[in-house]
Amino acid sequence: MQVKIAKVKQIIDQSNNIVFFGGAGMSTESGIPDFRSADGIYKQKYNYPPEQILSINFFKRHPDVFYDFLKEKVLTPILAAQPNQGHIKLAQMEKAGKLKAVITQNIDGLHQRAGSENVLQLHGSIKNNYCLKCGKNFSLDYFAKKEGTVYCDRCDGLIHPGAVLFGEPLDSMIMRKTKEYISQAEVLIVAGTSMIVQPAAALVNYYQGDKLILLNLTQVSNRRINYFLKGKAGELLSQLYTDT
Ligand code: OAD
Ligand code: ZN
Repeated sequence: MQVKIAKVKQIIDQSNNIVFFGGAGMSTESGIPDFRSADGIYKQKYNYPPEQILSINFFKRHPDVFYDFLKEKVLTPILAAQPNQGHIKLAQMEKAGKLKAVITQNIDGLHQRAGSENVLQLHGSIKNNYCLKCGKNFSLDYFAKKEGTVYCDRCDGLIHPGAVLFGEPLDSMIMRKTKEYISQAEVLIVAGTSMIVQPAAALVNYYQGDKLILLNLTQVSNRRINYFLKGKAGELLSQLYTDT
């Protein structure tokens, strides 16, 4: 149900137990394309379907195609991006003791750069790259500067980027904490996500309250949403939290 912003602002003003759950739409205002909008990464034409490219099996079979795609479509826009007003507002809400956790499907790290401390990255982070063969960790710097496919400097193994790929499980510790925060939240803000990628989307179902707020450019099909504000997440968050 679409509602008035003043009603949602009142809910946010009154709560000190808010949890945020976000997706790629949270970073489009920072210039990073999302996946499924008309100008999203998955709507462009490639030789292979992008969801196939970003899978673990494809990565192992065609690391060169995978790396070209990852660097051009995912890493380059992330490296050029700055946190937007939405990321900044969430960090301020955490500092004020209102927001308990930011749960995100994004790997870009913009929440941390805006000052958020308790961030759960369900789909990994561009910082945590590691060798598939010997497990050595590699910084974003090592990874981003290399041309083409990136191999380990110790054993020549293929380096797995920090993102969780299709066909891989999510980190069980992060999943557990996510379930805890969501199930204990008084207010759950969901923003910038199509809510169709599992298992992430289903985690929202752990919410037990009646103040589930969706901030999104488009409506998503989830029956648990109590308040829907249609618009840009960053702009809406700026209007919803003004106590700074
Ligand atoms: P999607 O691209 O599927 O959905 C983004 C949603 O954000 C859409 O509903 C847009 O309408 C909305 N949107 C875009 N810009 C917005 C803005 N400024 N404010 C509010 N809403 C906006 O992205 P995700 O749901 O995050 O996973 O996708 C989930 C996962 O699919 C990603 O984490 C990624 C991808 O495959 C992996 O790579 C494992
Ligand atoms: Zn190695």
